[in-house]
This record gives sequence, C-alpha cells and structure tokens, in this order.
Amino acid sequence: MKIQAIRGMQDLLPRQQAIFSHITTTVSEVLNSYGYEKIGLPVLESTALFKRAVGEATDIVEKEMYTFDDRNGESLTLRPEGTAGCVRMAQQHGLTYNQVQRFWYAGPMFRHERPQKGRYRQFEQIGAECFGMAGPDIDAELLFMTARIWQTLGLQADVTLELNTLGNSASRSAFKLALVDYLTKFKDELDEDSRRRLTTNPLRILDSKVEKTQELLISGPSFQAYIDPESMADFEQLRRLLDARQVDYRVNPAIVRGLDYYNKTVFEWVTDTLGAQNTVCAGGRYDGLVEQLGGKPTTGIGFAMGLDRVALMLDGRYESRAVADIYVASMGEVARHQAMLLAESIRDILPGLRVMVHCTEGKFKAQLKKADASNATIALVIGDDEVAQGEIGLKHLRGDSQQINVAANDIIEHLNKVFF
Ligand code: HAM
Repeated sequence: MKIQAIRGMQDLLPRQQAIFSHITTTVSEVLNSYGYEKIGLPVLESTALFKRAVGEATDIVEKEMYTFDDRNGESLTLRPEGTAGCVRMAQQHGLTYNQVQRFWYAGPMFRHERPQKGRYRQFEQIGAECFGMAGPDIDAELLFMTARIWQTLGLQADVTLELNTLGNSASRSAFKLALVDYLTKFKDELDEDSRRRLTTNPLRILDSKVEKTQELLISGPSFQAYIDPESMADFEQLRRLLDARQVDYRVNPAIVRGLDYYNKTVFEWVTDTLGAQNTVCAGGRYDGLVEQLGGKPTTGIGFAMGLDRVALMLDGRYESRAVADIYVASMGEVARHQAMLLAESIRDILPGLRVMVHCTEGKFKAQLKKADASNATIALVIGDDEVAQGEIGLKHLRGDSQQINVAANDIIEHLNKVFF
C-alpha cells in the first residue's frame, strides 16, 4: 500500500505554496510598517500551557489537541494556536514586565478537527500579539492593520468585520450565571452540545448554529446589559476610532470566541466566499492571561489569520509567476558543459535573473517546449554550430521568435539590454 499524507494535512504544491508566500510577504510588510517585530515559537509546548490558557472546557482542549508523552514521559502538545506560546515566551524572557511589546509570528498549528474545505488538521496562521497596552487605541490599531492587510491583498470587498465586547471577568461571570439560570428551565429543548455546555462552557451556547437554541436565546438575558461601564466606554471609543478611519464593522453580540482567555474587545473577520469555514481572521483582548500563566498583571490583545482560508480566497485571481527568466538549451556533451558554465556566469554577473538549464539529453524541439512552459522570456541555445563559432543562440520566447546568434563574450551585454 502506498503511504499517503495524513488526513487533514495538506501538501502545498508549487502554485499553492506561491500563494502562501505571497500572503506571508504582503502581511509581513504591513505588520512591519506598524512596528511589529517577528518572533519564532516552538511547535511543541507543555500540554499544561494550553489547558491553562485556552481552557479545559473548550473544544480545542477537550477534543482537538495532538497530545502525547515524549520519551521522558512528559505530556507535550502540538500547538493548536499561537497566543499561549507567545505569552509563555514573553514571560519566560521577561519581556512583558513594565514594557510595551508588539510581536508577530507565522507557522503551522494543529487541531484534530473534521477536515473539510478551509478546515484542516495542520493549518497555517499568521498572528500578532501586543502586551502592556490597555486599549482601546491599540485595539483600533490592530483592526486598522487587519483592514490594511485585506486592502493590500485586494480582498477588502470580500470580508466583513464583526465586533463585540465581552466585558471584564465580573460582568462575564454575572451574565454566565443569568444565562445558565435561564437556559436550565429549557434544558430539554436544547441541542445536545448546548446542554453539555450548560455546565462546561455556557457562553459558547451563544454561537450555537442550532435554530431552536438560537430561538430560546432571543428571550434570554442580554449580554450587553451585563457589560461593565469601563468596558462599554472602551468599546464606544474603539467604535469612534473605527468610524473615523472608515473601517466598516457590524456589532455581533453572538461573538464569544472558542478560547477562554478573552475579555473586552473580540472580533472576527468573516467572508461569505468560503462556505461554512467563514472566519478568516479572529482575535481579541486577553487582559488576564499573562497573570493566569504566572506572570505579573499585563494586558494583552492579538489576532490570528488563517492562511489556508485566505489562500482559498485568492486562488482564482492569483497569477502564477514564471519559474525562470532564461532557459538554457543545449545539444551534445561539449555544448552541455558550456551551457552549465554560462548559466553560472549569468547568475554571478546578473544575480537578479532566474536561470534554468535543461538537464539530460533531449531534442531541441522538446527543450524549447520546456523553455516555453517555464514561461521564460528568453531561451539561450547552444548546439554544434554555436560551439564551433564561439556563439550563443538567443531566442525571444514571447512575440518575435527568430533566433539571433551573438558572440559568447557579448551575451551578458545582450541580456542586460533585454532585462534591465
Ligand atoms: P482562532 O479563532 O482559533 O483564534 O483561529 C484563528 C484563525 O485561524 C481562524 O479564524 C481561522 O482562519 C484559522 N483556523 C483555525 N482553525 C483552523 C483550521 N482547522 N483549519 C484552517 N484554518 C483554521 C486563535 O487561534 C487565537 N490564538 C487568535 C488570537 C491571537 N487571539 C488573540 N491573539
């Protein structure tokens, strides 16, 4: 039996990888332009980190983590997200105490979810995390920055910002109690998941997709009514900043997020172009997390963008770049030898150009077909005649395709004229 990739873990073929690289480059330029610094984080962390940060009663920790004991018997987990690791790092290296930080990271995350279009078991995120700023100005900056990312990628018409505030922990606890009180009366009418969440994670019932549950919620307590005045004032200030910068948004009280660490501002950028997996970027404030992981009280806010989903959105409109600028074709051993050395000197003298050499034997016609498929601008041709004359054939592959022969010594000058 042939060995296949693990279910839910995608191979990125060259075109797909090119789209991913294009997104990463674009996003990193925007992040850098706001003064965010890139960090690198391990893919493996202690299981306890995610249990404490993301929360024991969340779907991620309850059923989606890749957890195993290593050879020393220590429980490790392939990171399901980046925030917990970033907070761990910042704390371990003393980067949060009395300091302001803006970090970003990129890399694979792992969740054992049911795979479908836009939902994978290994997926790529670009995330940003900020420490030591209480908001709402930094909250607005993060949202301005994400809006600019969509604009730079040409996706601004395909995404919508949904926004909510969860208040401080006291307001959340009070609302939770009221919600449980109310829903317990209708326990038998709730869907199975929501019934379970009544005892484990009641806030998550708010974003249940089940219609009957949503109907019950309409007459239930309103989250808004429980939000503390300071969080409300911050939220209003954030909205004013977004209005002033003309970032459109919709306040959606159902956004509670699937990770436990959030408070105050939470948001999701959603699209209707991807079917069920419609959230392409999400995040919020987590003012209690640093302390919860053993650090001094430090405010935090961040987001993560799902690259696999953004790549799906870009797929139809991304134009693949040519693989090479120059394709070198040759016939016979002496010519091949010359072709290899010619390519090396072009790479030395004109390092901006991409040069592809036709390796292994083949008829010129077949070689030029390959040259055409590489989308190169020019083919350089070396056959018996060229070797005898000390020349190199130069063929424009786009438009006029007549071959001209130039003295080998003049080839760099010719290429310079064509490309620069
Ligand atoms: P999250 O909402 O769990 O948040 O994930 C962020 C984004 O990652 C999602 O909006 C989605 O685009 C992408 N994503 C999540 N799961 C999958 C999957 N199975 N397949 C493909 N894409 C996926 C977090 O991870 C938080 N750490 C975000 C954050 C940072 N909050 C504060 N700072």
